[in-house]
Amino acid sequence: MKKRIALVTGGTGGIGTAVCRHLHDQGRRVIAGYSRGGDKSFALAWQTSQQEQGYDFEIVYGDVTNYQSCATMLDEIGTQYGAVDILVNNAGITRDSTFRKMSPEQWHEVIKVNLDSLYNVTQHVINGMIERGFGRIINISSINGQKGQFGQANYSAAKAGMHGFTKALAQEVAAKGITVNTVSPGYVATEMVSKMPPGALEKIVAQIPLGRLAEPREVGHVVAFLAAEESSYITGANIAINGGQHMF
Ligand code: CAA
Repeated sequence: MKKRIALVTGGTGGIGTAVCRHLHDQGRRVIAGYSRGGDKSFALAWQTSQQEQGYDFEIVYGDVTNYQSCATMLDEIGTQYGAVDILVNNAGITRDSTFRKMSPEQWHEVIKVNLDSLYNVTQHVINGMIERGFGRIINISSINGQKGQFGQANYSAAKAGMHGFTKALAQEVAAKGITVNTVSPGYVATEMVSKMPPGALEKIVAQIPLGRLAEPREVGHVVAFLAAEESSYITGANIAINGGQHMF
């Protein structure tokens, strides 16, 4: 059987890299979407370093906040590699601030990258998935979309919104062989978490029953599980990977 094609937005980041690797190990042809303000050199260096470690990934530029840029990205993927069967909406940012100090820019940037992106990217793959009768859409949300987080009104709103999107779209495409699910990691050992203010992270780790951060591969594993052909009866779910920090 022809390898299924997987697109991972934010594929060169901490969680993104682990997701790409797990999908590769599952036998998928993996394309990492990147933006970084159009800085291709970072993505190329990432691609080379992955190749040296035995992972062959394609890279493609796409600004997930821009509908037209996403249309171009999906056209390019379609022409060069084929139609996307597995989409992992993973691109995300933080702009933490207490709400009373939060600027309109901090609010809008986070909503655009973390939430508008779901529309901008998914819109260009959904009809093809419906026509082919197969699709896996996995949205990377966060524990903080489930429980809220002091200093993250923007991020918590966007991440909670992602799961609303998951549940609505899951209903619309369930009969077409497409599953749509959310994964909600807790605090993962990535660059994003390492940038938290000194002291804040220690306080959070103290609240985690497992007593440590998640490893990116622990998230990649769950994404690959949801992407598997056999995971065909799981849809509209939200799988928490948070070391027990939030149980509900
Ligand atoms: N609960 C209650 N009070 C808190 C608090 C908390 N969690 N964090 C800070 N405060 C209090 C401080 O004690 C201080 O109180 P006083 O004024 O009485 O002294 C006050 O809030 C500080 O408020 P400021 O408006 O001055 O805010 P600040 O500039 O100090 O920054 C903050 C506050 C933005 C919340 C900062 O502490 C921060 O960034 N915290 C981390 C937030 C966080 O968890 N981000 C997750 C990033 S990783 C990620 O998002 C990945 C993922 O999916 C999990």
